[in-house]
Amino acid sequence: MDPKRLSGKNIMITGAAQGMGASNAEYFAAQGANVCIGDVNVDGVNEVANRINSAGNGKAVAVKLDVVSREDNADAVAATVEAFGSINVALLNAGINKPRMFMDIDEDNWDSIMDINAKGVLLGMQETARAMIAQGPMDDHPYKIIPVGSIVSRTAFLDVIPYSCSKYAVLAMIIGGAKALWEHNITVNGYGPGVVRTELWEQLDKDLVKIGMFEEEGQSMDHLAATMITMKRYSYPNDVKGTAAFLCSDESDYMTGQLIMIDGGMIMQ
Ligand SMILES: NC(=O)c1ccc[n+]([C@@H]2O[C@H](COP(=O)([O-])OP(=O)(O)OC[C@H]3O[C@@H](n4cnc5c(N)ncnc54)[C@H](O)[C@@H]3O)[C@@H](O)[C@H]2O)c1
Repeated sequence: MDPKRLSGKNIMITGAAQGMGASNAEYFAAQGANVCIGDVNVDGVNEVANRINSAGNGKAVAVKLDVVSREDNADAVAATVEAFGSINVALLNAGINKPRMFMDIDEDNWDSIMDINAKGVLLGMQETARAMIAQGPMDDHPYKIIPVGSIVSRTAFLDVIPYSCSKYAVLAMIIGGAKALWEHNITVNGYGPGVVRTELWEQLDKDLVKIGMFEEEGQSMDHLAATMITMKRYSYPNDVKGTAAFLCSDESDYMTGQLIMIDGGMIMQ
């Protein structure tokens, strides 16, 4: 594999102040990409950009981005083009989760999760595609939009139903978006992490105790690893970055409309 396989790629990443977004941004830059990283956590995303620029491979710029705002999405895309000359790839990674038992799901819980995880992806796809269409074909390789799904893009658990609805919506946008955008030389493929130890899961672990799913903090990830993950361990952002980079790279050119699970064998179909 070419260690600089992302040279020449200008990639926008949403939700990149921490977790998989930050890890992917650093890995993509190490592989030669330039990255425009956006997040509601502006300090966090600035820190990630500083780390990337100090490392001396691909360059990074950081922007304030709330994915539920169309204007913010358009501004982040414009910032990518302004910094690097064009946009080739968008990784739409920002997402939240807040578990609730079914009868306790209220409108706030539903709306906040669906807004960020589903509408945020729609707006990111549209504003990215708008810029890619305006650029026109630039080389022999398609543009790439990569929405982040989940294991719960293909199944649902009783305590995270709005989250699962939002990630099924992501799957629908991957499939429908692939069909809609190919005429503009844009592919749409996503990946679905399983149980990844990030700040999101640290919070989820606490919340699962609050809603009575587990007795003590720290049990949830081990329990899922033992009972549901074929490889018998949960994962870290490092486990995800290689597949994410593959989807950004020219190596995935002849793919569209796919959601790849990176879950140690939780969902097999
Ligand atoms: N951690 C897991 O086990 C897991 C599993 C499957 C899928 N995922 C998905 O992977 C993606 C990344 O998850 P993570 O675990 O790295 O989460 P994380 O909480 O560590 O990072 C998410 C980032 O998104 C940012 N963000 C939140 N709302 C935003 C908004 N409105 N606009 C812009 N940025 C916003 C946060 O500030 C944060 O920096 C999410 O889409 C998540 O749903 C995570």
